[in-house]
This record gives sequence, structure tokens and C-alpha cells, in this order.
Amino acid sequence: MPRRLTLGVLASGEGTTLDALAEQAAGGHVPARIAIVVSDRPYAPVLEKARRRGLATSVLPLKGTSPDEWSARATKVLTEAGVELVVLAGFLSILPPAFTKAWQGRAVNIHPSLLPRYGGKGLYGDKVHAAVLAAGDAETGATIHLVNDDVDGGPVLVQQKVLVERGDTPESLRHRVQAAERVALYSVISRFAEGDWPLPYRDPPGRARSRRTDGDPLTGPSA
Ligand code: GAR
Repeated sequence: MPRRLTLGVLASGEGTTLDALAEQAAGGHVPARIAIVVSDRPYAPVLEKARRRGLATSVLPLKGTSPDEWSARATKVLTEAGVELVVLAGFLSILPPAFTKAWQGRAVNIHPSLLPRYGGKGLYGDKVHAAVLAAGDAETGATIHLVNDDVDGGPVLVQQKVLVERGDTPESLRHRVQAAERVALYSVISRFAEGDWPLPYRDPPGRARSRRTDGDPLTGPSA
């Protein structure tokens, strides 16, 4: 069993991802421990889910603070909790550049599409699934990528495909894509915990953005 990675989770919404991750970590199925959950929304259900699991929480609204002040506060909270890797699990605010710079190579985002398709400002959650259905795409999926100041544009670490089925709705697609997100996220966390991907992680030059693979960002697509 690799060492357990200390995670900080940033989330704004329901927290089903946080809940599933916490469950897997507590059961020893993912080599990680969640040290803190940070939300930008004081009434986000994710906070209650975190508290019920005995996880430390911090509420840091972006409104009313300068981006630099928010970045400094969030970095302090995460650093004091000993966080090695930040996981954006449905964090719906745009992160200030000072924050993405401070956590470069140590922060990953979960996105519910095969980026670069259906990414960027305003495309999140069920809006993504509705867009996929409106376009009549045959497949969609989940992406875990490094966070940088390009919204949903950071280097891709892992992607997991999901077939669109006849009669799918945004909700039915969401369920299958979220299952794929979890598989992808747990594999990413494991790779970091195993030391296969050193932190802070640097994407090999020239590989960013062009990859669409379930394989390894260091060695390329799996066979
Ligand atoms: C994630 O599962 C992901 O699909 C989406 O929000 C969900 C969070 O749900 N993330 C994005 O769209 C990010 N751009 P949750 O609050 O129930 O975990």
C-alpha cells in the first residue's frame, strides 16, 4: 500500500464527489486522507456532508475579498492542514491567478466532459451534459486535469470515456459520467501517492491539451 496523500478538497455544491472520495479513503481503497474541505459558499450541502464525516471545513467566499487576499487565505488554510494535493470537486468559482500559481502542479480539477470539448467558463455540471445531448454526440466522459489559470484548460492527466445512450437525459448522463470521474480521480490520486508523478507535477513539454487518453501522461496512451 503506498503512503496516504494528504488532500484538500475545494467544492461549491452537493458534495457527492467529496462523500464518495471520503468513503473510499476511509475504507483504504484510495491512498489518501482528506485534511480539509474548503467551500466558497457558506450554505453548500458539501459542508454538511464533510462535517458529518468529521472532516475539517473552511468557508472562504470570493465575494467581498480581493483575489489576492482570497488566495493568501486559502493557501494558508490548506498549508496549515498539510495539504499536498488540492482536488477541485465541483468548485464553481473561477480561481484567482495567484492561487493557481501557488498550487501549480499540486491542484487537479474534475470536469464532466472529454476536454477540450465542453469546457471553459459557464460550462459545468448538467449544462455540459445538456450540451453533449444537444450536439448529438455519441460519447462523452470525464477529465482530470491540472489546474492553471486557463479555465478547464490545464494539462490533462486522465480521461475516461462514457457512451451516450438513446434516451439519455442530463441526469442519466450525469450519473454515468460521475462514476467515470471517480474511477479517473482515484487513479490520479494513486499515481501521485505512489510517487509515479512527483509533486508538484510538471507536464512533459508539448503534451498538454492534445492528449485524449485513458493512459499515462508520462508514457502516453495505454495499449
Ligand atoms: C462533479 O461531479 C462534476 O461533474 C462537476 O460538478 C460535480 C460536482 O458534484 N464539475 C464541474 O462541472 C466542474 N467544471 P458534487 O457537488 O455532487 O460533487
